[in-house]
Amino acid sequence: MNPDLHRLHPYPFEKLRALKDGIVPPAHKSPIALSMGEPKHAAPDFVLAEMTAQLRGLENYPLTKGTLALREAVARWLAQRFTIATNLLDPERHILPVNGTREALFAFAQVVVNRNPDGCPDDSPNDNKGAVVVMPNPFYQIYEGATILAGAEPWFLNTPENTGFVPDFNNVPDEIWQRCQLIYICSPNNPTGAVISEAALRQLIALADEHDFIIAADECYSEIYFDEAMPPIGLLEVAAKMGRDNFKRCVVFHSLSKRSNLPGLRSGFVAGDAEVLAKFLLYRTYHGCTMSPPVQAASIKAWDDEQHVADNRAHYREKFDAVLDILSPVLDVQRPDAGFYLWAKTPVDDKTFTRDLFAQQNVTVVPGCFLSRDTLTGNPGENRIRMALVAPLEECIDAAQRIRRYVKTLKHS
Ligand SMILES: Cc1ncc(COP(=O)(O)O)c(C=O)c1O
Repeated sequence: MNPDLHRLHPYPFEKLRALKDGIVPPAHKSPIALSMGEPKHAAPDFVLAEMTAQLRGLENYPLTKGTLALREAVARWLAQRFTIATNLLDPERHILPVNGTREALFAFAQVVVNRNPDGCPDDSPNDNKGAVVVMPNPFYQIYEGATILAGAEPWFLNTPENTGFVPDFNNVPDEIWQRCQLIYICSPNNPTGAVISEAALRQLIALADEHDFIIAADECYSEIYFDEAMPPIGLLEVAAKMGRDNFKRCVVFHSLSKRSNLPGLRSGFVAGDAEVLAKFLLYRTYHGCTMSPPVQAASIKAWDDEQHVADNRAHYREKFDAVLDILSPVLDVQRPDAGFYLWAKTPVDDKTFTRDLFAQQNVTVVPGCFLSRDTLTGNPGENRIRMALVAPLEECIDAAQRIRRYVKTLKHS
């Protein structure tokens, strides 16, 4: 067996199950889960209709590269959404379909990482010479698992409140940059909701050139934001503004899961550096992760429409307004820059908070420490919880009221 499998951490939801194990919440309170980041708004009918209309497509093997029509739809969307000149994005070289960002984020490290950077097969990842992948902390756990199975060492860049919940790239030691082959960034971030600024992205691109690493920007929450006039900036847009027409070292990951409420469709794309994507395509051809033809056809419809995405944002806005009204008087919690999570500070430790909230109110949240790691400069997930506002408005309001009731008991104890 692959010995690196033992280095994988249990998934946060496994830890959550264990934390709740044996607790019987009050039966008269309906269960409410704010734990899973699974969108719950309805999927657009016209996308589902296209899916069924194209079922005959199942009679053909799809290409790993997907149809040109899909890659053209993605190029149109990217150019329009991120104000990138249309002629900069070549659907033949800069775009590949993926079955959701999760598998792509995982597979990407397998392609990019050179596990023996000194050419010495005996180098162990722990000998302070091996490949390093930098990632935010707290983080989406796939980055860590992908790194470990690619034979590299994860290095966690804390994103606590005092850095505005975004990575401060000045906090990475030079020795780590020298070993870094890949960095994952996540903007808007899961779980903090913070958006990385243009200035910070420019700094990161300069560092990537200086130290020769690739930037994997997980932007799967980019379409969930509050101010219609201020969509979050993306990495390719910044690269284009810097005159980096070939998007060198820059690759972005996008998905229809959150944008279009289609988590079961498993549809997304990667875009950016053509040389890197050529290698990614080679890998994927062997890995065999093609996108089904009806899914490709349905995805074109989804990327081509913005109205359902704006409607989706309006639903989230309504929920954030209502929930923050209820929670902010009792909890240290702020509206995020974007995304659908609240990343609240807890008055007691996060696991106790999660367990007792469930025991008393039958509401499930995720303890911050399940989404983060200990580092020499602390654990930024400690004493935080993540709440996903994915349930219907009434349920989110009910959950917020129950959380408020629970927090009040803490203040009186
Ligand atoms: C930060 C982040 N990246 C990627 C994903 C994967 O999404 P999908 O594979 O549905 O595109 C998720 C899902 O929750 C996520 O939170």
